[in-house]
This record gives sequence, C-alpha cells and structure tokens, in this order.
Amino acid sequence: MAIQDENIVWHPHAVTRADREAQHGHQGAVLWFTGLSGSGKSTVAGALEQALFSLGISTYLLDGDNVRHGLCRDLGFSDDHRRENIRRVGEVAKLMVDAGQLVLTAFISPHRAERDMVRQLLDEGQFIEVFVDTPLAVCEARDPKGLYKKARAGELKNFTGIDSVYESPEAADIHLDGEQLVTHLVPQLLAELRRRGIIN
Ligand code: PPS
Repeated sequence: MAIQDENIVWHPHAVTRADREAQHGHQGAVLWFTGLSGSGKSTVAGALEQALFSLGISTYLLDGDNVRHGLCRDLGFSDDHRRENIRRVGEVAKLMVDAGQLVLTAFISPHRAERDMVRQLLDEGQFIEVFVDTPLAVCEARDPKGLYKKARAGELKNFTGIDSVYESPEAADIHLDGEQLVTHLVPQLLAELRRRGIIN
C-alpha cells in the first residue's frame, strides 16, 4: 500500500549529483542486467564490476541473491513479491545514482512492467537495460545451484522459466549473447559505456 504524507516534503541537498559526478570523473547510471536464473547475469556483472573498479570508477553491484539476505529477506517468489523486490531495488539504485555511482544490478526481474517502472524512476539515459540472452535449455544444463532440477522434480514452485514467467526485453539497450565468454562480453560493455559518455 502506498502511503503519501502531505507533511513530508522533498529536501534538496547542497551537494548535487552533478557535483559528485564531477568528483568521480564519470556519470551515475544503472546497468540493469536481466535474464533467466543461470543466464550469467551475476557472472558478467561481477566481471564488469572488477574491470570498472580497476579503472577507478565508483561502482557497486546489487545482486538478487545478496539483496534477498537483507533488504528483501521478507520476500519470496510470487509475482507480487518479485514486483516489490524490484521496486525496492529500483529505489536503492536511484539513490545510488544520486550519489554518483555506476550501479550494476543482477536480478531476474522477469516482468517488463517492473523493468519499465525502474526506467521511469530514473532520468533519461540513466537506466540501461542489459538482456543476458541465454536459452532456457542452456541455463538448465548449467544449473549451477541445482534449482532447475528441484523445480523439474516439483520440489521448488514458481521457478522462473519452468512454472513462472520470464518476459524477454523487446528492445533492450544492450543485448548480450549469454553463451559468449565473459572475457568477450566485458570489453563490449565497457565500449558501450564509453559510447554513451558514462565513462571516459
Ligand atoms: S526476481 O524474480 O528478480 O525477484 O528474482 P531475484 O531477486 O533476482 O532472485 C533470483 C535468485 O533467487 C534464487 N531462486 C529463484 N529464482 C527464480 N525463481 C525461484 N522460484 C527461485 N527460488 C530461488 C535463484 O538462485 C536466483 O538467482 P540467479 O542468480 O538468478 O540464478
């Protein structure tokens, strides 16, 4: 339930995002990785985070499994809970962009509506949707956590791609072939960030 109190007003701060971006030497933005479980979202985002960090970029990776240990520990995998998960992460990412960070997120984020909701939270060009496109059969063969096996055995309900929907992006800002090596994908992402003027 949305609660809006008319007695709560937005307080502008003296140090702005532009000030922080100037200090960091790059822009704040969100690279929003989406894809099936096992598609390689976390692996690619993690490798990109390392590369950015070594370039001196202020970056932080928000990862589904980790966020669900704290901020979203009360949420499961029903459609409503996934929606709330993405809403909270979107708001956190927005704050971090305001802090001048280059935020990477790795969430299945299976619904187009929620991904679009996060895009709307941010300014034009600050939300970059990255589709890690890996066929379900490949993700299932990888099965790094044994979750597909459990889902097929009926021991895990509402598993994305098995008995819960994944809506592929129709026009992702960046479309990655999830079967490519991470060592090929990271330079591709760095080049795209440079092309967009987010990093130098
Ligand atoms: S979502 O849909 O965006 O809210 O999901 P997310 O927060 O990214 O969490 C996905 C990770 O949770 C584990 N897990 C499941 N995934 C999908 N469906 C079900 N039912 C489920 N139960 C547990 C799984 O490890 C996901 O991690 P990744 O890295 O995507 O494999």
